[in-house]
Amino acid sequence: MCGIVGYVGPRAALPVLVEGLRRLEYRGYDSAGVVVLNGHGLESEKSPGKLQNLEERLKKRPLDGTIGLGHTRWATHGGATEPNAHPHFSCDRRIALVHNGIVENFAELKRGLRGHRFASETDTEVAAHLIERFYASERDPVRAVHRAVGLLRGHFAFAVIFADHPDLLVAARLNCPLVLGLGEEENFIASDIAALLPYTRRALPLDEGDIARVDRAGVRVFDRMLVPARRPVIEVTWGAESAAKGGHAHYMLKEILQQSETVAAELSGRVDAERGDVRFERFGIPKAALRSARRIAIAACGTAWHAGLVAKCAIEELAKVPADVGFSSELRYGDTPFDRDTLTVAISQSGETSDTLAAVRAAREAGSRVLAITNIRGSTLAREADGVLFMRAGLEVCVAATKTYTSQVMNALLFAIHLGRVRGALSRARARQILRDALALPPKVQEVLGDDCAVLRCAKRFLRGYDYMYIGRRYNLPTAYEGALKMKEISYLHAEGYGAGEMKHGPLALVDRRMTVVAIAPQGRVLEKMVSNMQEIHARKGHLVAVTTRGHPIAIAEETFEIPPCEEMFSPLLAVVPLQLLAYHTAVGLGRDVDQPRNLAKSVTVE
Ligand code: M6R
Repeated sequence: MCGIVGYVGPRAALPVLVEGLRRLEYRGYDSAGVVVLNGHGLESEKSPGKLQNLEERLKKRPLDGTIGLGHTRWATHGGATEPNAHPHFSCDRRIALVHNGIVENFAELKRGLRGHRFASETDTEVAAHLIERFYASERDPVRAVHRAVGLLRGHFAFAVIFADHPDLLVAARLNCPLVLGLGEEENFIASDIAALLPYTRRALPLDEGDIARVDRAGVRVFDRMLVPARRPVIEVTWGAESAAKGGHAHYMLKEILQQSETVAAELSGRVDAERGDVRFERFGIPKAALRSARRIAIAACGTAWHAGLVAKCAIEELAKVPADVGFSSELRYGDTPFDRDTLTVAISQSGETSDTLAAVRAAREAGSRVLAITNIRGSTLAREADGVLFMRAGLEVCVAATKTYTSQVMNALLFAIHLGRVRGALSRARARQILRDALALPPKVQEVLGDDCAVLRCAKRFLRGYDYMYIGRRYNLPTAYEGALKMKEISYLHAEGYGAGEMKHGPLALVDRRMTVVAIAPQGRVLEKMVSNMQEIHARKGHLVAVTTRGHPIAIAEETFEIPPCEEMFSPLLAVVPLQLLAYHTAVGLGRDVDQPRNLAKSVTVE
């Protein structure tokens, strides 16, 4: 949610920090600040609101120095005000700190810090004062941070700068992501690798409880007992251009339009249509465990949860094993019976969603193996899971997930096919058919992307609409949920995803001429039933928009978004595309902040 950047090296720190913060903007924030160390001590500037406000202030008062920290804050404790923005300082202003996460016992710790003067309402500030207290006796920055961290409860990532140490930053991590970026004679700290892309591709993700010394010459990592530790360095493959809009008005549009490439990337090298097999590189879950699993438990949040619902349908259809999908925010309490016979599949784009990590830990504690589907190498989820399917969606900057949704769905479907083959529930002949159809998907996605006239017309027509309802069944019930989520999160219009068969059990009462109902009704087993449900809407004068298979129009629909024919299980990948575009064009028409919708963050690292 918040963003951290730290720099030490030969360059002027300020441009590196501001550029890093810009690349972290997508995480969501409501104030920003920087601190730089120079001959005058620690100099800082902060501002509520967007980064641009901070930049305006920095134009009037540039800060010199080759070492510093930057931060974007997403308010939790205390409003989005200048005093609450980070960095926070010790009383003598010789120590400054930026923080992601929450210090849960801050009130109790604050009471113990008698004589310290606090300048904000935040939980964070207590950490700066604790470090000050321990630094007074230890005189060693790493030891001081270690002792302070030992008293904190909650989850956090810190970066700390000391006026007494002009070539040193200290970083600490517990349950919030933090990576070190390794350069030549310069090093970086960042809450995610997006901030590092212009400078280095070598990243060292810290482990839980780690503390790191970061100076120009190198980095040293210590574990929670302060014993020197070696952590693997990962090579980042994303280019710096992945964090640019590439000529598009918004990241969201760029990312929607990339989907035929990203779907192709997911398939590349994994599909052997002739043999009817799927192969994953470094999968990590033994075939014996796939065969013996008696249940698949899927844990995810938000859009990833919708991908989990598609996975459930496919796993049950192709592998004939029961699959449950839970919100990670519910599964985390450990009442769900995970056990050795359950294979848990955790789906998370970021690999850092706090609830999903907690659900995974509960599952592992109960003896369940965990397979992660994630987009981020080196993420906490990737490191804690027994096996990983890495998505190949590339960096997604817009808060609203689009290309990472279709990548999650593609991975989930490939996994279901693999599971079906390994368990002997899916015949080779049927797998061949399915996989040939899978290979034909990228041009079909492109076809849908190229045909946005109806979407544009529809967005314009219903812009001032009263309410949106999205309905679907089976594989496209998740598409209905996802279409509605996209609409509400970026347009701020009310939109609900609902099972088409459930409408007459209550929500039909809402339908009148002010309601727009988007029915996801491609060819497949449930089409006739979908058409009946649409008739019920039509009879009550609701406006009907339909997603249909080309050549199979539904006459009562006032607007139609066509998708090419495909296996029913792949239809969610195609059907969601016009719904993403509909949400996008509606939000643009309403003048919304498409890439950074209000109140939301890209990666939800708090419970
Ligand atoms: O990083 P994750 O996939 O775990 O994130 C889960 C949700 O926060 C996320 O999918 C969210 O719902 C989307 N950004 C909405 O578009």
